[in-house]
Amino acid sequence: AAPASREISGLTKVYGILADPIHHVKTPQMLNALVAREGRDGVMVPFHVSSEELPRLVDGLKAMKSLGGFVVTVPHKTAVVDLLDGVSDSARRIGACNVVRREEDGRLIGDMLDGKGFVGGLKAAGIDPKGRSVYLAGAGGAANAIAFAFVEAGVARLTIANRTRAKAEDLAARLADAVPGAPVEIGTADPSGHDIVANATSLGLKAGDALPLDASRLTADQIVAEVIMQPEETAILAAARAKGCRTHPGKPMLVCQLDLMADFLGMRSLGAAA
Ligand code: ATR
Repeated sequence: AAPASREISGLTKVYGILADPIHHVKTPQMLNALVAREGRDGVMVPFHVSSEELPRLVDGLKAMKSLGGFVVTVPHKTAVVDLLDGVSDSARRIGACNVVRREEDGRLIGDMLDGKGFVGGLKAAGIDPKGRSVYLAGAGGAANAIAFAFVEAGVARLTIANRTRAKAEDLAARLADAVPGAPVEIGTADPSGHDIVANATSLGLKAGDALPLDASRLTADQIVAEVIMQPEETAILAAARAKGCRTHPGKPMLVCQLDLMADFLGMRSLGAAA
């Protein structure tokens, strides 16, 4: 929580988080703590809004001069894109935004940091996907952002495998469209032959979930990474460790993404993360 000593004044920058439902969000606590550490005068509060009312809220926020920006989460990441005045190249390619900054002139500018957070978290752990062969399980919202970030990070090969094959094919086509020559292919449940194996499905969130890929094919030279943050130990990470693989949990994605969000929203001196 924000420190009780923090004074909110007429100069305080206000930041929001747009979500529905919103009771479970933890981003305000984490970003408020960061703002306090940075000695900045800002506060993030929940902006609970339905999909139906999202356009009215976003339009109104353009008029709010004390607004620094806002974080966007489920279910608004896709819908918000068309309501903004501009988005980054990667947000346009992915078709989703999870952070929006309000410029002095009222324009709202969005970016998508989900995938960059994942790749940044890997890099922070000393795992650089550049030039590596990557296997990605999933083709949903999280997988989309991560697939684009892997391609932008310069992987040598990206194999996408998904229960619904058509969604993997659609993602691969959009990747090839956005980044000509993107080394993308469609895979099966077998992740063998890849340096980095990443789970971007929701399998592992619930106890008793099936594995997102054929863990019997993992070999000890592979790195297995997870997007799921809670639980910290998912079945695929446990299976990978049993095979002797190096594993990478979901948490570093969050840590990296908070830094990226804080930079984008001007909550701290740029480059502080470097
Ligand atoms: P998120 O925003 O977390 O990515 P999502 O967009 O709903 O959520 O995507 C969920 C991903 O997990 C998808 O890749 C989904 O596969 P489908 O595209 O075939 O639905 C995958 N997933 C969820 N439940 C699954 C299951 N029981 N078996 C296999 N894949 C599953």
